[in-house]
Amino acid sequence: MTAAARLPHEPARGIREVESGYDVEEIRADFPILNQQVHGHKLVYLDNAATSQKPRAVTDAIVRYYERDNANVHRGVHYLSERATEEYEAGRTAAQKFIHAADRHEIIFVRSATEGINLVAQTYGRKHVGAGDEVLISAMEHHSNIVPWQMLCEEKGAKLQVAPINDRGELILEKFEQLLGPRTKIAAVGHVSNALGTINPVEQIVKLAHARNIPVLVDGAQAVPRIPVDVQALGCDFYVFSGHKTYGPTGIGILYGKFALLDAMPPYQGGGEMISSVSFEKTVYNKVPLKFEAGTPDMSGAVGMRAALEYLNHLGMENIAQYEHQLLEYATGKVSAIPGVRIIGTAKEKAGVLSFVIEGVHPHDVGTILDQEGIAIRTGHHCAQPVMERFKVDATARASFGLYNSKEEIDALVRGIQKVREVFA
Ligand code: ALA
Repeated sequence: MTAAARLPHEPARGIREVESGYDVEEIRADFPILNQQVHGHKLVYLDNAATSQKPRAVTDAIVRYYERDNANVHRGVHYLSERATEEYEAGRTAAQKFIHAADRHEIIFVRSATEGINLVAQTYGRKHVGAGDEVLISAMEHHSNIVPWQMLCEEKGAKLQVAPINDRGELILEKFEQLLGPRTKIAAVGHVSNALGTINPVEQIVKLAHARNIPVLVDGAQAVPRIPVDVQALGCDFYVFSGHKTYGPTGIGILYGKFALLDAMPPYQGGGEMISSVSFEKTVYNKVPLKFEAGTPDMSGAVGMRAALEYLNHLGMENIAQYEHQLLEYATGKVSAIPGVRIIGTAKEKAGVLSFVIEGVHPHDVGTILDQEGIAIRTGHHCAQPVMERFKVDATARASFGLYNSKEEIDALVRGIQKVREVFA
């Protein structure tokens, strides 16, 4: 069947029925980019925390959208505009269902997880945080969950409080609780740390904060691609994640917010779509979620993201989490056994992120030598400089796993690290 003959809400192409088991070789066949050589070696892509690769189902859905459905949304009465609107709104419903939000109106399309956090800081934050108030974050946050709050605190004369982490890279919950004070107006924590892999006990964090009527924002950029997420079970007030880390396209992300909070928040940006009427005297804003979606949105991004979420649903998030956990355990055992290697981030609850340093070797050199072997990892501070400071390192090398990685690829990483040690011996 050609793309043109398909109806808007048929499942994206390229999703195969997997009856049972988790066949990584079959899965890899869905990701054409993985099938290439780099510097004469088979590509081993272990930089999934930075961005994940896209299955054909996602790229096909985007091409199909542009070849068949593209028009501006929510504006025209014409056929294509209605179809584009259906496609765009189907993306919203897919995101709602994926994170188990109660209502599809609680899903706001943003550019990225970062933009979602900025939106909350600049709307909810500016409205509720005043001079002398406090915003509480953790010491393992990505810069995107630090700087927007810092900017808000600077503007308002408020204080950024930081809950410490222990030597394994786990949040010290008692300290977090102690820092939830009468002036705390919002708490913001990552679900999974991009630099350490730690999975935070979000449900407990939310309970502690809610006992004091403090709302909680969760940065789920590294969690949504890795573990099942249910925002109602977590109880959080805001949750953000991005398309591109979730096997979908770049340039789109999701902000989830409880409806009553979103409804009471002022708009973020002004422009078309976010209004219901405009005159020079007064503008009446649109309803949630469109109130927060000024300008022409990323329609193809919503389509691609929906295809990605359908793909993940098809494999099953429980299966993906279990599989990645096996990869992490296998890699942790092998890498930590190499003399001179120290793993940074050894939390009991961890997702597929392995940060490490090699004695006497700068992480950038590790990355460069591994690249020569066709192995892609990230080196640097991972946009989490305070984490580096906490562990007294300038940088780490970080291998981060995705649903298509294999044990053979981890063996290649181990051989690569051994080579690095030989070069620097
Ligand atoms: N936040 C992304 C990472 O951890 C870019 O690599």
